Amino acid sequence: MRFFWNILCLLCTVLSLSQALRILGVFPHSGISHFVVMRPLMKELAKRGHEVTVVSHFPLDKPVPRYKDISIAGTAPLIIEKMSMQDFYDFSRISLYVTPFVVTGFGESVCRGAYASNKLDEIFESSHKYDLMIAEMFNSDCFLPINHKLNIPIIGMSSSALLPWMYGRFGIPTNPSYMTNIILDHPKRLSFVQRLENTVITGLERLFFYQWRNRRDTQIARSYFKEDIPHVSEFAKNASLMLVNSHFTLNNAQTYPPNVIEVGGIHLPEKNETLPKNILKFIEESPHGVIFFSLGSTVKSTTMPAREREQILSAFARLPQRVLWKWESDTMPGKPDNVMIQKWMPQFDILSHPNVVAFICHGGLLGVQEAVYNGVPMLVMPQHGDQHTNAKAVEDNGGGIVLYLKDVTLERFYQSLQTILHPEFKAKAKALSERFRDRPNSPMDTAVYWVEYVARHKGAPHIKTAAVDMPSYQYLLLDVYAFLLASSVIAVYIWYRITRSLLKCMFVKKKVKQN
Ligand SMILES: *[C@@H]1O[C@H](CO)[C@@H](O)[C@H](O)[C@H]1NC(C)=O
Ligand SMILES: *[C@@H]1O[C@H](CO)[C@@H](O)[C@H](O)[C@H]1NC(C)=O
Repeated sequence: MRFFWNILCLLCTVLSLSQALRILGVFPHSGISHFVVMRPLMKELAKRGHEVTVVSHFPLDKPVPRYKDISIAGTAPLIIEKMSMQDFYDFSRISLYVTPFVVTGFGESVCRGAYASNKLDEIFESSHKYDLMIAEMFNSDCFLPINHKLNIPIIGMSSSALLPWMYGRFGIPTNPSYMTNIILDHPKRLSFVQRLENTVITGLERLFFYQWRNRRDTQIARSYFKEDIPHVSEFAKNASLMLVNSHFTLNNAQTYPPNVIEVGGIHLPEKNETLPKNILKFIEESPHGVIFFSLGSTVKSTTMPAREREQILSAFARLPQRVLWKWESDTMPGKPDNVMIQKWMPQFDILSHPNVVAFICHGGLLGVQEAVYNGVPMLVMPQHGDQHTNAKAVEDNGGGIVLYLKDVTLERFYQSLQTILHPEFKAKAKALSERFRDRPNSPMDTAVYWVEYVARHKGAPHIKTAAVDMPSYQYLLLDVYAFLLASSVIAVYIWYRITRSLLKCMFVKKKVKQN
């Protein structure tokens, strides 16, 4: 039996190698929270026999067979524990509106840094050949023209739900009456004012990205290639497929054509690792369970204003539960005995421990997905980016509740924790977890299937709707409406003229008779 299996495995490997693809991954954003979504897919593709080459700021620590790094590390600042909570404390509508300007501005500096370093030249060495390109689609398209030289199918990938400017290029219907904007804090069902805001802001963001960002991206790429290459939006529209790190159980149902595939939770590991001894002991020796507190990798929780920190610690001191807090310093003033601090903690493994009863987080999508997967209720304190949207989505779908940092008082914080620690709330979070996990295939298997599908069908142009390369006036039926309007006007005019002349005739005849 064992021998039989060995032969079978060997056969599988040989078969899969015979269709091995040479895949180029281009993931230039320097935020680790994006790359942790891309890396598992590239590793898995390598594991399944494909040759992958990965352009990123994060080369592997331990080499993996068939996985080759082209490191652009050092060409842009890394975004790790850089931001201060004070910056997002009193967030206004304006700060939400300017988010796209800030993130695309950062995208431009990443573009310039990577191109100027000439580290990308390695892609074009004649010894390299590629069958497929997987590119992160986020705040800039300046790296898509790499495909000008390679001429291979492009697959887009997004570490978050879709940004407003991703819709047109994949032919996704864009109706702001119900399709929420990732950067606004709207719930699933929009009021009149929210629909107005969504229409105006989403429209302006799209216009800005196409007219400004993409124009600059094109210039940057042209100066690197020293050629008059097509506008970057042409490459974007040519992309075969989009893999999105969202799922309709959490990010609300959307209308996607067949070339947009939801793989939400693709970064989740297949199994949890054993926890470090001190953390495991702390968790297992707490008879009332443990609350896990982490604000992610971009903001430093040590920058939390003192007033809020004191209120939160007083609330913790009242609890029978213990608290694990990811805190980027060795000391914390006023720390009660039931709170343990540490600079780094294995988030997924902690959340998967059955004795962890709640998660206080910032609403970063990955942490949210990890908590949803493990059925842990959340208290979300959103800071920036898509965290406001994620927080609303968590609340709408029964995974937790939202509390803004500026609204924190001892009482409110304590009561919010009591709400999510209630067994009824736990049941809601469990139900969401079951919906999130219930899929025909794991997100990873789904992603690999579609990557190979695109290769098998030579870019699979048949999975795109005709909307992708229609001019806007045709897509919006402006020509049809104009025709219908003109015809109606002409018809009304003709009717008016005929009636008038008929009336005139009758009138004139009557007059003649009277005379
Ligand atoms: C888009 O795809 C078409 C058909 O494969 C190809 O002829 C064209 O050169 C591509 N355009 C760009 C900008 O890659
Ligand atoms: C891993 O997760 C399972 C539940 O999914 C749990 O029963 C188990 O205790 C966890 N193991 C560790 C080491 O945390």
